[in-house]
Amino acid sequence: MDEQLTDKIKLIWENAKSHSPLRQKSAVCVSTIDSAGFPQSRFVDLKEVDQRGFTFCTSYNSEKGIHLSQNPKISLLAWWDHIGYQIRVVGKAEAISSELADKFWFTRSKNARVATTCFKQSEVWDPAVSMEEQYSAALAASSKPIARPNSWGGYTVVPDSIEILKFRTNRVHLREQYSRDGSSWNMQLLQP
Ligand SMILES: Cc1cc2nc3c(=O)[nH]c(=O)nc-3n(C[C@H](O)[C@H](O)[C@H](O)COP(=O)(O)O)c2cc1C
Repeated sequence: MDEQLTDKIKLIWENAKSHSPLRQKSAVCVSTIDSAGFPQSRFVDLKEVDQRGFTFCTSYNSEKGIHLSQNPKISLLAWWDHIGYQIRVVGKAEAISSELADKFWFTRSKNARVATTCFKQSEVWDPAVSMEEQYSAALAASSKPIARPNSWGGYTVVPDSIEILKFRTNRVHLREQYSRDGSSWNMQLLQP
């Protein structure tokens, strides 16, 4: 993204977070494509927005991680009702560096780090075993600091196009569609 577009989105996101009535203030929906060609959506926490794109963290072995290893195409969607903005991003996911993954790993609570290390995200669980017991045992046995597993990291959604929609109650929404054109970005308005 160019500097101007990055700053615009960062400003909207900062505004959304600081006025949010939600507990999970940074949740955004990301959709990947499964092996049958279906889109699969779920919420993740948006960690960072910069000129490269939109970064979230997850397990590389999760269902989304497997989808992305086969097809990096991804969409990211945010709706911030309290400020009336929808942000819609289409692009490709690129795995973040291990240095950046470490940075995000150590911002997580101990509980979250233990949960990540004692479960295999998206794999089927045997109902005969108590998840809570497994978690409590892992918590009690956990060393300090808890190392980041290699399977945990994140992706940057590197955008090809972005739409910023400012919601208007009369439905005359302001829709700005930005598309990559080489190294620059073009904006066109779309009808509501
Ligand atoms: C508000 C919210 C935030 C979430 N944040 C994350 C996140 O940052 N990373 C993550 O891997 N899963 C997060 N999850 C769980 C995902 O929605 C999802 O269940 C999980 O990543 C497994 O998805 P998958 O099986 O499609 O890979 C979050 C769920 C909610 C409801």
